[in-house]
Amino acid sequence: MLIAHLSDPHVRPDGELYQGVVDSNAQFAAAIAHVNSLDPLPDLVLMTGDLVDHGHADEYAMLARLMAPLEVPLLAIPGNHDERQAFRRAFAGQPWLPAKGPIDYTVGDRGRVRIVALDVTLPGLHHGVVSEEGAAWLDRVLTAEPTRPTIVMMHQPPFDTGIPYMDLYSCRGGGVLAAVITRHPQVERILCGHVHRSMQLRFGGAVLCTAPSTTTAIALRLRPDASPASHVEPPGMLLHHWQDGRGLVTHFVPIGTFPGPYPFA
Ligand SMILES: [Fe+2]
Repeated sequence: MLIAHLSDPHVRPDGELYQGVVDSNAQFAAAIAHVNSLDPLPDLVLMTGDLVDHGHADEYAMLARLMAPLEVPLLAIPGNHDERQAFRRAFAGQPWLPAKGPIDYTVGDRGRVRIVALDVTLPGLHHGVVSEEGAAWLDRVLTAEPTRPTIVMMHQPPFDTGIPYMDLYSCRGGGVLAAVITRHPQVERILCGHVHRSMQLRFGGAVLCTAPSTTTAIALRLRPDASPASHVEPPGMLLHHWQDGRGLVTHFVPIGTFPGPYPFA
């Protein structure tokens, strides 16, 4: 089972640049084309939030246009830049979309790895939280399939990254989440977006990965007094590859065209 993981495309209305600097729509179109060009084609695409920049209807209309060429089934969760009702309208008819409340769901019919989507966003706020209800729901759905390799995806990461201006807007309640994950060793990965960088750490006994954005990268500034900044770095995605007997291997994949292939390895 092959799972492509895109995050934080921050789609804008037609013709408008992200932060007035970069064409996030063209970058997202390139990411979709890159997924379609993979051989073998992934079984699933996961998108961990901030699909659009301001949660507006014209942005979701643009998102739909940009996603139309995607040849792979998609699962998505909202981020702090999404708007829950507009998100719900954008994905109306998708079998995984819950009828009301947070965008929490499970999908288990796309291959060996089961996907659990946990919506930790708080409408109108930039930080997230693992609520008591959310933690109880997660515990319940993980208890239901204790031996199935599982990915849990959420938008804001539940740990301090060390980048001070991102840690103001992380997902609170990380201890509660870690306690749940620790009880369910079938959780292979926790996948997050939000920080526009690739990071890996151990969390609750599982491996937690954050995805790069398909648009700009948050500046890697680790001084406690650092001021917020971003760079136009090569956009990227993650590719999670499950094989029975080996487990889940996560690849970082830059998006773009690069010299090669050359006949050496
Ligand atoms: Fe973002």
